[in-house]
Amino acid sequence: MLDARGAAVPAVIHWGADLGPLTDAQLEVLADSRVRVVGPSAADAPIRLGLVPLLSDGWTGLPGLEGATLALSRVEPGISVHLEGDGLSLVVELKLDDHGVLHTRSTLTNLGTEPYALAGLATVLPLPAVAQERLDFSGVWAAEREPQRAPIQHGTWLRESRHGRGGHDDSYLTIAGTPGFGFRHGEVWALHLGWSGDKRTWIDRSAVGLGAIAAGELLAPGEVRLEQGEAYASPWAFAAWSGAGLDGLSSRFHGMFRGLPAHPTGPRPLTLNTWEAVYFEQDLPRLSELAELAAGVGVERFVLDDGWMTGRTDDRRALGDWTVDPARWPDGLGALIDRVRAAGMQFGLWVEPEMVSLDSALAREHPEWVLGSARSWRHQFVLDLANDAAREHVRDALLALLDAYPIEYLKWDMNRDQLGGSVHGQVLATYRLMDELRAAHPGLEIESCSSGGGRIDAGVLSRTQRVWPSDTNDAHDRQSIMRYTSLLVPLEYLGAHVGPAPAHTTGRSHSLSFRLATALFGHAGIEWDLSAATTEELASLRVWAHRYTEMRGLLHRGDLVRGDDLGDPVITGVVSADRSEAVFAIVCLQTPRESVRLTRRLPGLDPAREYQVSVVDVGAPPATYAGIQPAWVADGITLTGAVLGAVGLEPPLLKPDEALVVRLVAVG
Ligand code: DGJ
Repeated sequence: MLDARGAAVPAVIHWGADLGPLTDAQLEVLADSRVRVVGPSAADAPIRLGLVPLLSDGWTGLPGLEGATLALSRVEPGISVHLEGDGLSLVVELKLDDHGVLHTRSTLTNLGTEPYALAGLATVLPLPAVAQERLDFSGVWAAEREPQRAPIQHGTWLRESRHGRGGHDDSYLTIAGTPGFGFRHGEVWALHLGWSGDKRTWIDRSAVGLGAIAAGELLAPGEVRLEQGEAYASPWAFAAWSGAGLDGLSSRFHGMFRGLPAHPTGPRPLTLNTWEAVYFEQDLPRLSELAELAAGVGVERFVLDDGWMTGRTDDRRALGDWTVDPARWPDGLGALIDRVRAAGMQFGLWVEPEMVSLDSALAREHPEWVLGSARSWRHQFVLDLANDAAREHVRDALLALLDAYPIEYLKWDMNRDQLGGSVHGQVLATYRLMDELRAAHPGLEIESCSSGGGRIDAGVLSRTQRVWPSDTNDAHDRQSIMRYTSLLVPLEYLGAHVGPAPAHTTGRSHSLSFRLATALFGHAGIEWDLSAATTEELASLRVWAHRYTEMRGLLHRGDLVRGDDLGDPVITGVVSADRSEAVFAIVCLQTPRESVRLTRRLPGLDPAREYQVSVVDVGAPPATYAGIQPAWVADGITLTGAVLGAVGLEPPLLKPDEALVVRLVAVG
C-alpha cells in the first residue's frame, strides 16, 4: 500500500497481510495514522520512510540513494513513481505479481549538465515493529547457504558482497520476521536482489522507531558516472511477505520463478555430468563407455564437463580457447555426441566464457582483455567482457560450437571472484552474452554454476534453466544446502547429483539409499564413474531413475513444504496444487536422542481428505536400527490430512544419515 498523496516522496505504508477492501476514507485514516508521532528530542515533524529515504528527510539509517541530496518536487502516483529535482530524475517501478511478489527497480537519469557520480541506489522498504528477528545466509565452497539468525536491534546490520558474483557466502535472501518464525508459522518479510555482481543488503532499526529492509547493487567509487542524459537502472529487487512462515515465502517466490519466460519447460531430464567421473581424463572410448552405462540406467542428458578444449589437461591452462582439443578429440566431439544421441540422450557441454588462462592462445593474442592479471585464482583470470570486442570474440567461438554440434545445454561455470575492473559492466556483458546465445539458439538451456553455488539469483535465473547449488555431492551436507537454496528457488532448477561413496569433496561415505533419496528432491542427476559401480548399484540407479521420472511432475510443479518440528527427523515434502498427492522425505541427520525416532507431522495436506501413505522404493532401503518398525512402513496406512498434519507419522528407526521417502495419494 503506497501513500502517494501530496508532493512528498511516496511511502510504502503497508506490505503484509491483505487488509480486505477499504473505502477511500478508511485508507486516508490508515495512511495518516502511520506518520503522526514525534518523540522527545527529535525533528519537529514526523519522519516517514519514503521510497527513497534520505538524510534530508530525517532518515538517519542507510539512505536509498547515495551520491546527492535531492530536493524532490514532483510526484506522479501510479506503479511508476516519477521524482525530479536538482537535475536528476528518478523513476521507481513497482509491480505486484500474481503470487504476491513485489518487483521493484529504480532508474536514475542525470538531467543536469554536470556529471553525476552515483554511489548507490537501493530498494528500501519499511519493516514493521513486530519484525524483531532476522535470517540470512552465509557459506563457503561446498557448504553454501548456511542460515544465520539474530535479533534485530538498533543500528544498521549490513552484508556486502564484493566477489563479482554473489559468492559462496551470498546473503541471498534477507528475511525479517516475528520472533521464532519457522517454516510454517510467523510473519516474515523478505527481500532478494536479482543481481549477479556486487551487492549490499541491510536491515535498519533506528532509535526514532523506524525500521527498514533494503538491497541494492554495490557500486565501486566512480563506477557509475552519469553524463547529461545518461541513466542508471538498478537491478530488480523482489520482496515478499508471508503470514505463514518461510513456506509461504517459498510459495510466492516459486510462483514468481515459475512464471519467468526463461523458466524451463518440459520434464527436467535426468542428467549425467562427467566431472567427478573422469575430471580432465577425457577420451572417446572412456566417455563412450560412460555414456552407454548412463543410458542403461535411464539418463536423459549427458553433460561433458571441463577438459575438452585445446590443451586443457588441467586447470592451469586453455580457458578462453573454445575449440575442441585435437589431441584428445582428434575427430572432434561428433563421434561422442552421435553415441549420446543414438542412445536417446541430449548432449550438454561445459564452458566458462567469462574466464581466461594466461596459458592460452587468447591471452597471448589479447593480453589487454585480461583483467587484474596480478592476482590469479584457480590459475585463471577474468576476461574483460565489458569490452565489446572480447565479448564478441567469445560469443562467436561459442556460436561456432553451437552451430557445429547439436548441443542442447551449456553448463556455464564461473570459478573465481572478480577483484578489479567494473563488476557492473561485466555482469551486464555476461547477461548480454547469455541472451545473445539463447537468441541465436532459442532451445538452448544454460546452467548457472560458479564453483558450485556461487551465483544463484533472479538476475542469472532470468536467462538460465538450472543452477548447481554446490560442488559437494555429500548427501548430508546437501540436505541443508538444498533446504535453504529451495527457500527461494524451486526444485526443478536445483541440480542434485548422486555420487559414489566416499564423497569426493568430504571423503565421507553415506549409504546409497541416502544418496538416492537426497538427489531425488531436485533436478536429479548422476556424477559418478559408472564403470566403477557394481551391478547392484547400477540396478539401484535404474530403479531410482524410474522413480524420478515418475515423480518429477509432482516434485517440479508442487508446493514445497517443510516441517516446523525442530530437530531430527527433518521433514521436507512436495504437495500437488490440488492436494491430491504428495511426496515427503523423512530425513535423519543425527544419532537419535531417544530410543525411537520422534513422531513427525506432515504439513500442507488437505485436512478433509484421506491419504494412502506408502513407502517409495528409491532403489535401496535405508538402514535402520534393530527393533520393531512401525507397521505402516510395510503395510501402508490411510489417514486424513488433518491427522497427518496435527498428529503425524511415527518414523521407522532410521540410522543417522538415512532418509525414507513416502508417497501420499488422496483416496476418494
Ligand atoms: C567447478 C564446478 O562447480 C564443477 O562442477 C566443475 O564443472 C569444475 N568447475 C570444472 O572445472
